[in-house]
Amino acid sequence: MKYALGLSAVLAASLLVLFGAAAAQGEDDAQPRYEREAPDPEASSAMANVLARKGEDLSGEWRYLIDPMRAGLRKPSARRDFPNDRKPPKEELIEYEFDSAPTLTVPGDWNTQVEELFWYESVIWYRKIIDARPKRGKRYFLYFEGSNYWTEAYLNGDSVGDYEGGFTPFMFEVTDNLNRGENSVVVAVDAMHDAKSIPSFYYDWLNYGGITRPVHLIETPETYIHDYRLHLEEGDAETIVASVALDGPSKGNQTVSVEIDELGLTLEGRTNRDGIVEMSAAVSALTRWSPENPKLYDVTVSSRRDTVKDRIGFRTIEVVGQDILLNGESIFLKGISVHEEPIGPEGGRRMDWEDARELLGVAKELGSNFVRLSHYPHNERTLRVADELGLLVWSEIPVYWEEIRYTEPYTKALAKRMYKDSVNRDYNRASVVIWGVANETPITDARNVFLKMLIDHVRAMDSTRVISAALNKNTNRGNTFIVEDPLGEHLDIISVNEYEGWYGRRTLDDVPGLVWKTPYDKPMLFSEFGAGALLGARGERLERFTEEHQAAFYDVTLQMAEQIPFLRGISPWILKDFRSPRRWHGRYQEYWNRKGLIAETGEKKPAFDVLQEWYETYDGPASE
Ligand code: GCU
Repeated sequence: MKYALGLSAVLAASLLVLFGAAAAQGEDDAQPRYEREAPDPEASSAMANVLARKGEDLSGEWRYLIDPMRAGLRKPSARRDFPNDRKPPKEELIEYEFDSAPTLTVPGDWNTQVEELFWYESVIWYRKIIDARPKRGKRYFLYFEGSNYWTEAYLNGDSVGDYEGGFTPFMFEVTDNLNRGENSVVVAVDAMHDAKSIPSFYYDWLNYGGITRPVHLIETPETYIHDYRLHLEEGDAETIVASVALDGPSKGNQTVSVEIDELGLTLEGRTNRDGIVEMSAAVSALTRWSPENPKLYDVTVSSRRDTVKDRIGFRTIEVVGQDILLNGESIFLKGISVHEEPIGPEGGRRMDWEDARELLGVAKELGSNFVRLSHYPHNERTLRVADELGLLVWSEIPVYWEEIRYTEPYTKALAKRMYKDSVNRDYNRASVVIWGVANETPITDARNVFLKMLIDHVRAMDSTRVISAALNKNTNRGNTFIVEDPLGEHLDIISVNEYEGWYGRRTLDDVPGLVWKTPYDKPMLFSEFGAGALLGARGERLERFTEEHQAAFYDVTLQMAEQIPFLRGISPWILKDFRSPRRWHGRYQEYWNRKGLIAETGEKKPAFDVLQEWYETYDGPASE
């Protein structure tokens, strides 16, 4: 018996192992992409100011292969087929060939370039042949301004790195892989989001996939200026503080300088052994950057063998009680929310200089002094255009809605890495005044812990800006809303998305009488409010999706806004209609979110005029 028992026990144990393994395997399979290392939140970000660097822009036509089952990723990186963009002997069987493949334009999403790819969210393999003349004593980097959502790059068959995140820059050093003459660059992009990603797999915009922003091959000296950060400090005198970080074998103990000729300012210092130096000097006759006068200074950062030029504005932003002060003056943020999608019938995830100037030019025409660049870090050109036009910016990473895995170590590391790369790229943009850490994330203990961690992380990287989050309305008692989200304790500005009169049971006539309160002695923004309207759809004032309804929604909401003494700004949802798979209505939407004040073609709806008139005369609640 003993023996028999033993046998059945062994059988049971082995079945358990078998099912256990299957279950484990099953769970692993839940991840549509093959297991990947958690991002390193401390890893170095891409070099600052790529647009001013020496190098080759790899924009243009890239060959591509579609790989919906991620077949090309099944083998370990070193043994994958597609990166071996070689010409095999005729007798050898291969079932792919880039030379005879079609082309996609980079930068740009694939969805609006190829009809069959409109809803595609898996892998595409890109290939470009580049000619290089690498020089001794120089270093070379493949720099991606943005690629959605997960990207792995190969040079001449060897993987040079991978990155997760659809809206922040990354770069891979390729100094040792670059051949003199012809080089094959192969890039795998997987648009799929999953349970651990940021955003997760549920959000209200079209998941535009691909190499959506420009790619550069950058050349630097062996030791180069990797990063530099300047900001204005107030004390007994106005002081410009500059820190510079070198990267390379002789980064230590090197003299670097920061010059602003127009101010007669030359800061000079010697880097420490880590290649870092911080310098500062009082300045006089500085013209501060502001929306009315977006003054930018020509800045030159120099080291022994490298020079980088930039255009930087200087201003201060702070919160005092329930007031927001720009350069020490109280300001009401007359904003509008913006997705990164150019004006035009196709939409798309492409934003070149003229696209950005056209889109933000409409915000200026609206009378805005502020844009919420939702829900992810926008293209660097957009931030630089905001600097030029004088638009204050709220920038955020897409910690969005209820699906974020707050207790997942991978996701915590990813959020920190994403924000590090975002701050690193935009630290010198005067327009950026608010870092947003979340959008409509339901209140749970895990969410509070995660966002407190993220807030501390952002503050530690950048103490010169204020932090907010787009919160849900929470406590509602009759006609009174009390904004008491516990996260508010850690935010400088409490922001709320509110849609009374559009979502929920209230009608437009209920809205002016709504009352808002908060226990926090902090300013509040309406980070969103809005109503949908199809351009040209006419009807009754209360008829949804008509231009009349949208205009009336703005009218009653602005009446309500004027009654809230601690409301210091608004960024209504949204400047322009944008593509979303969650907007199915065949007569009004056709997979477009229609809350824009302008249609995707740029044509204005009547609500645009309602807000524009209000911005002409309203500058915030009458101060007591
Ligand atoms: C939410 C969300 C937006 C979304 C909007 C809407 O507030 O933040 O991303 O597009 O509502 O419903 O249109």
